[in-house]
Amino acid sequence: MTEQVVTPWKVEGKIDYLKLIERFGCDPIDGKLIKRFEKVTNVKAHPWLRRGIFFSNKDLNSILDDYEKGKQIYLYTGRGPSSEVMHLGHLIPFMFTKYLQDTFDAILVIQMSDDEKFYFKGNSEGKRVEDYNRLTYENAKDIIACGFNVDKTYIFSNFKTCGGDLYQNTVRVLNSVTGNKIKAIYGLDLDCTNGQLVWPSFQCSPAYSNSFPDILHKDGKYSDELPDGSKSYVGEHIRCLVPMAIDQDPYFRMARDFADRYKHQGYLKPSTIHTKFLVSLGGIGAKMSSSGNEPTLYLNDTMKEIKSKVNKYAYSGGKETLELHKKYGGNLNVDVSYQYLLYFCDDDLVLRDIAHKYRSGEMLSGEIKKIMIEYVSKIIQEHQDSKSKITPEILRKFFTRNREFDYSRKERSEIELEEDSVYDNYGVGFDREFGAKPSEEVLEYESKLYTF
Ligand code: TYM
Repeated sequence: MTEQVVTPWKVEGKIDYLKLIERFGCDPIDGKLIKRFEKVTNVKAHPWLRRGIFFSNKDLNSILDDYEKGKQIYLYTGRGPSSEVMHLGHLIPFMFTKYLQDTFDAILVIQMSDDEKFYFKGNSEGKRVEDYNRLTYENAKDIIACGFNVDKTYIFSNFKTCGGDLYQNTVRVLNSVTGNKIKAIYGLDLDCTNGQLVWPSFQCSPAYSNSFPDILHKDGKYSDELPDGSKSYVGEHIRCLVPMAIDQDPYFRMARDFADRYKHQGYLKPSTIHTKFLVSLGGIGAKMSSSGNEPTLYLNDTMKEIKSKVNKYAYSGGKETLELHKKYGGNLNVDVSYQYLLYFCDDDLVLRDIAHKYRSGEMLSGEIKKIMIEYVSKIIQEHQDSKSKITPEILRKFFTRNREFDYSRKERSEIELEEDSVYDNYGVGFDREFGAKPSEEVLEYESKLYTF
């Protein structure tokens, strides 16, 4: 088994997520937290929360505390535009962010880190600053297609935006971290370029609300006018929640350390919520990615391409022959189609039925692939339809800062909560097999089959 490596630039090996959150100092999302989430927001937990896909957090409770008190919070996430189109794995944090935006009625800022991609890929890919900046706008269409509310969302290219208040925060962070700390957190060293070594501070700074005073602090307290006519925001900060996959967590450990150091100036530690990785079609030992040789589902794949990629590459937990499959059934833990259904088949009853039929050998590998193709094609087709409706005007509006944003918050009626015993099964402890447990004999047989 490959040893697990998880950094913002490299994810390798089969990941033990519980160990990872311990190593990263995060907290698991359990049924208790999910119950509180539902109680405070009056919105049902997303299936990805219930099923332990968004499985880890830091200080989500503080966000709920503020929301409960009627205080404003905001969301921050991002994308490093390195390819013409995004892949299905990238959709996971963005689809979930859309859900959080609707749930909290929150303003969202999205950093397009075109500078990051120039620092980390420009030399090896032979691309220019302008190339990564262009990809910002291409990728933004994939992001907007997730359905974000334009009146509550600001998307920005870091190249074009990192000045003023955002830059002042970046400078504060830059000045608070030593080279040794960068080396310890990210594994970067003196063979890296200056750009690579300073980059992490740029990803941290949007996590402080005074980086966007014009958007997040319309009515707050400002300094007197400076000679150039600008004013500095000196009022209270609002709390930030950052949704992302767990590989991005190191940035926010640093962002939280910085906030702690600057708390006397009102800085608040950003809260975080992490997803596991959507695995590669090739197997659970790798995440879906556009670099590397793993087979990948892109958001512009045709339905025919999706079908043929899944049929050709999706790693199967089924057995070699029909006879063996009927005897030992399909292994849900390694079957990629089943893993994808955990994301895209929302209905627990339907999924339970699939789990039991496949595990018992009644459902064949080709059949579960066919079901997975239907669900994934639907998601990608809907995404393509939504993307085709994005006009240049809509795209421009998302990138425009000087406009009215919508700060309103919907009143919701109370939702009925489940029994505590139901919540006990939610979150990291969720039974991903829906009770379809293999027998000792099957376990014994399967223990010899897989090397990961
Ligand atoms: P990037 O562009 O590599 O990835 C964008 C987002 O997608 C997540 N991700 C995945 N999630 C689930 N399954 C996968 N297989 C998968 N692969 C990637 C990433 O974790 C990320 O959340 N440096 C960042 C861009 C960035 C950012 C941020 C991200 C700038 N500011 C603030 C999160 C929060 C990057 O290159 O992400």
